[in-house]
Amino acid sequence: MGPSRHDLLTVGQLAARSGLAASALRYYESLGLIRAERTAGNQRRYPRATLRRIAFVRAAQRVGLSLEEAGAALGRLPEDRAPSTAEWGAVAATWQQRIDRRIAELELLKRKLTGCIGCGCLSLTRCALYNAGDAAAADGPGARFLVAGGPAVEQRGGDGGE
Ligand code: FES
Repeated sequence: MGPSRHDLLTVGQLAARSGLAASALRYYESLGLIRAERTAGNQRRYPRATLRRIAFVRAAQRVGLSLEEAGAALGRLPEDRAPSTAEWGAVAATWQQRIDRRIAELELLKRKLTGCIGCGCLSLTRCALYNAGDAAAADGPGARFLVAGGPAVEQRGGDGGE
């Protein structure tokens, strides 16, 4: 038996309870993270359990997972009930590894940053923060963030001796 109309939330109710904008909810839906039913008038209605799915996705993002990865993790959990301890434990174990990796990456970044303090060149060729051979830097959110901001900084004259 499916949920009664009483158990279904409008997009406005879901937005209010989840703290996400309606546009974000539609985006989550387009990625398959949540699913809506349609009323006869073609309006979205979400099962109440959608709130738990959203909470899971947001927790996954805090751990550093992309939305795609969060969706894959969600796919390993039951859709129609709360996960069992064993089911949740399996997911949490992979998240702990992820957090450990991020801590290691950030500690490495912190050490490199120490060498950069007082320098400020942000040179793509010389600065340790851009070390291309560094696997952690290639994978780490913190390092990725700095690398993503690198070229713009470089163009402002970091390497050009201006
Ligand atoms: S700022 Fe990193 S080596 Fe200059």
